Amino acid sequence: MQYQTSTQTASTISAGCIVVTLDGAGKLSDSANAINVASNGYIQDRFNAKDIQGKLAETLLLPSVPGITAQRVLLVGTGSEPLHAGSATKVLNAIAKATAKLSGSLVVALEELANETLNAAWWAEHSAMALVKTQYRYTTTKKAAEDDNSAPDTLIWIGSDQLSALHKGNAIGNGINYCKTLGDLPPNICTPSYLADQAHELAHTNTLKVTVLDEAELAEMGAGAFVSVAKGSSEPGKMIIMQYQGGQPDEPAHLILGKGITFDTGGISLKPGLKMDEMKYDMCGAASVLGTMQAILALQPKINVIGMITSAENMPAGNASKPGDVVTSLSGKTIEILNTDAEGRLVLCDAMTYAIRHLKPATMVDIATLTGACMAALGEVNSGLFTQDDTLANELIAAAQHSHDRVWRLPLEDDYQELLDSNFADIANIGGPLAGATTAACFLSRFSEDTPWAHLDIAGTAWGGAGKSKGASGRPVALLVNYLLAKQ
Ligand code: BES
Ligand code: MN
Ligand code: ZN
Repeated sequence: MQYQTSTQTASTISAGCIVVTLDGAGKLSDSANAINVASNGYIQDRFNAKDIQGKLAETLLLPSVPGITAQRVLLVGTGSEPLHAGSATKVLNAIAKATAKLSGSLVVALEELANETLNAAWWAEHSAMALVKTQYRYTTTKKAAEDDNSAPDTLIWIGSDQLSALHKGNAIGNGINYCKTLGDLPPNICTPSYLADQAHELAHTNTLKVTVLDEAELAEMGAGAFVSVAKGSSEPGKMIIMQYQGGQPDEPAHLILGKGITFDTGGISLKPGLKMDEMKYDMCGAASVLGTMQAILALQPKINVIGMITSAENMPAGNASKPGDVVTSLSGKTIEILNTDAEGRLVLCDAMTYAIRHLKPATMVDIATLTGACMAALGEVNSGLFTQDDTLANELIAAAQHSHDRVWRLPLEDDYQELLDSNFADIANIGGPLAGATTAACFLSRFSEDTPWAHLDIAGTAWGGAGKSKGASGRPVALLVNYLLAKQ
């Protein structure tokens, strides 16, 4: 997709399609009105004839409107309430859907919708993002439909110069689509080694330093928690480190760490068979780190960012960990593995210790499909946010609001820590039936030392839908990119 801005009027600009809006009372935006005047009231007639009523995200595609230059007009309803990020996103998704298969240029007259909460840059960024996102197709192991090859080639923004916002939205949209591709890949393709190859591929075309730690090195180092998960699989586990330097070399980096369990059977604490295929999505934290790094590389912010992935396959096997095993983590703390299905925290804790010791980040945010309990609590709407650091919490919440990639802060108080007491080790890897999302976060908090750290549980938000609409969501790439860009 190409991006341009223009100050031409809606009635005379040439376009494959021009997008203009009207509200729930039938009030036309300035651009809709310009088209209405040039066409002798054709738009007003559509409203009067109830072809469109202006309801939120309602669309009407008009193939030829007399008296104007554009080949098509898409009328979009904005409803009767002031727009906020949620309703505005609905409007943009409706536009993206209605124009997804048109060819040529797409002109959008949406700056007129800017208000106190959503400025012109927000609209431009989210317009580009919505259009890029609708172009997502899974094609690795299934061909695209034959009629599915046209798409708008240029997005032209009418109004002020919003090129940088358009490019930001484009980069985030591409990062989201990349994250979705990785999430949707089958687990026999998307292995820890495949994720490491992806990191090298990002480094190939960009300025990114990639380091991959293999299972033998990690065992040698003493990462007993990580190895306790990886050892039961014939796919070798890996930790992947991607260092982007946009700031000064001595400036501490902001680190994002993704859980990359490329398939989670539960191990010896085997999961039930129903929907077990969905455990291919247990690497979506890792996928969101790759998607975010791709966007960061496209946008080149002046900060240092480290994307890290801790990746393994959780399998039952003769040499797999057993409930009751006690292992020593890289930090030196011993862990009683009471349930081999609580493996995410085991691969994450050693990655946190490695990062703190060797990479000394300014901040650390982990992203993980960690608990069914978080999914039960927050559904597919909000990711769970856990941190004791209010500054970090506020930064992540602000980024979530801007991107409409929402989070809800859940408790992480010391009172929950005792649920992880073990008779035989420093800490148990599960905390019983209560507060499952919080006890998982408590477990991780034991390994954060003095580094400002936050945990995002994306178990409910990383993928969703059922039947034809089942797939990875690309979350929380938009949140992470906005969070990192605000560090500039
Ligand atoms: N990957 C799962 C969490 C999960 C489950 C995400 C379902 C999305 C949907 C994680 O490794 C896991 O199995 N967690 C256990 C923890 C329990 C054993 C304490 C869970 O949530 O049941
Ligand atoms: Mn598990
Ligand atoms: Zn898991």
